[in-house]
Amino acid sequence: MQNSITFLMSNEHKVIFAKFNKILDGSVVDKKEMLELIKSFKDDLLAHMKLEEQAIFNIEDIGSNEMKQIFVKLLEEHSQIRRMLVDFARLDEETVDDLKDILAKHEALEAGTLYPKLDRELSDYLKEEILKKLSEGSVYGV
Ligand SMILES: [Fe+2]
Ligand SMILES: [Fe+2]
Repeated sequence: MQNSITFLMSNEHKVIFAKFNKILDGSVVDKKEMLELIKSFKDDLLAHMKLEEQAIFNIEDIGSNEMKQIFVKLLEEHSQIRRMLVDFARLDEETVDDLKDILAKHEALEAGTLYPKLDRELSDYLKEEILKKLSEGSVYGV
């Protein structure tokens, strides 16, 4: 289980969501600390999406059409998320809610559907290749 795409990537999600929740829960009152936290959240999320795109979403011979459709949807959401992050430090309440919604939806599709599907359906060889890239590229060194 430890050596699965689901495990590695869900761990990254947890760290990123913990930072996002800390930004929103009002526990950080110091302005400098908040700006650093926002930067760290943005950097992590951008690095995570880049890693997914480089290690997973660009695989040509991924097999089923269903998998390809999931990739297309998730890639579109990455673009939306990136656009929202540009102005994140100045987000109003409505945009924060939008970001919250899209991140929750995105995480559910990845960790609930895509990653387990990849773990189940990919050949051992392809899975090893992906796991190697994910471990090397992970910001948390998992
Ligand atoms: Fe992800
Ligand atoms: Fe993603």
